[in-house]
Amino acid sequence: MTVSVADARAVLAANDRGGYTVPTAKLYPFQWNWDSAFVAMGFATFDLDRALTELERLVQGQWADGMIPHIVFHAPADTYFPGPEVWGTHHAPPTSGITQPPVLAIALADLARRGADPARVRALYRAALANHRWWWQARDPEHRGFVALLHPWESGRDNAPSWEGPLARVPETTTTEVRRRDTGHVDASMRPSDSEYRRFIHLVDTYRAAGWDPVRLWQAAPFKVGDVGVTAILLGAEAALLGLAATHGTDADQAEIAARIAAGEAGLRRLWCDAIGQYASHDLIGEALLPAPCSAGFLPLLTGAPGAAEVAALAALLRRWKAEGQLLVPSAPRDAPGFDSARYWRGPVWAVVNWLIAEGLRRHGETELATQVRADTRAAIEGAGFCEYFDPLSRAGLGGDGFSWTAAIYLLLAEEGAAP
Ligand code: DGY
Repeated sequence: MTVSVADARAVLAANDRGGYTVPTAKLYPFQWNWDSAFVAMGFATFDLDRALTELERLVQGQWADGMIPHIVFHAPADTYFPGPEVWGTHHAPPTSGITQPPVLAIALADLARRGADPARVRALYRAALANHRWWWQARDPEHRGFVALLHPWESGRDNAPSWEGPLARVPETTTTEVRRRDTGHVDASMRPSDSEYRRFIHLVDTYRAAGWDPVRLWQAAPFKVGDVGVTAILLGAEAALLGLAATHGTDADQAEIAARIAAGEAGLRRLWCDAIGQYASHDLIGEALLPAPCSAGFLPLLTGAPGAAEVAALAALLRRWKAEGQLLVPSAPRDAPGFDSARYWRGPVWAVVNWLIAEGLRRHGETELATQVRADTRAAIEGAGFCEYFDPLSRAGLGGDGFSWTAAIYLLLAEEGAAP
């Protein structure tokens, strides 16, 4: 299959709903939080104004307490479940009540570096600062140095093997009728199971009943996991925010952000797991590390947390996975319990995670491996098109197609000369 920069731009244009971009038609017909940040960086390669608008539309969904929801329902659509009536939040525009990986400041720093309008950057900087404060206050109230998720959807890695143990505590009973729409658009073998879905909706029911108040949610949560992926992304975003604060913030902002980075990097170091030679998430209810090998375990490379020994171990593991014939970077490796090369976050390769891992490898001087990860990403997209995710063994394109964030990553890779 031949794909080009023009094709990638056409995917973004096709998914543009007027200032915000849906991840893909039908399967995800609204604005998704971390998708939007990658999409903004994709737009920024050719249209900075449109890139800023993407982020501005996202923060229209921001709550008064700083939380940025994982979905903003700008316009109705009947091809998705659970819609705004299930979430029952009280925001205009309507939103979900949980969040997603905070890539916003990483995208904003990229736009600023390219010369985006400073006044618009400043307004978004304030939104990102409020959001980061929310993360640490609402999701690390015990000051452990890593942030917790109360729903697997908040990780963006909905059905990752790491969630299996913690999710087993969540009952399958729901007060909402579960009417899955996703399996009408994509083969059920590529999506989370029905049992997982019922538990996902049980959590939504629980939090809606708690009125979406962060303190009550923390107390009520039957799922509470300190996530290595989101914590690493948040710290990468904090570093981006610190850079922006030099121009757009105060000295006090800079001191506050630097203190959070120091505490967060110390927290991440406590998530190192010798058993898998990677960083791991931590189950706050069972008080145990969740030693499941996964792509998220490399994301601390985005931060200053890893020392030379950890960088070497992570690089060696990636090289091993590659030598075993896997397209980098599988969301779970082929020898992991629960591996399924086609099922969402149980094996498939995701372009956005690859882009983040490559950035992290570059930060730590592993440039050759960073180039390998980028080349694998490019090969996957050129082989199968702008699919949602890719089989790490067969390289087949899976999930939704015409996918915005895959197109956005292709544009970033193309700009760096990693694609024609
Ligand atoms: C979904 O609906 O599959 C999303 O990942 C949840 O945000």
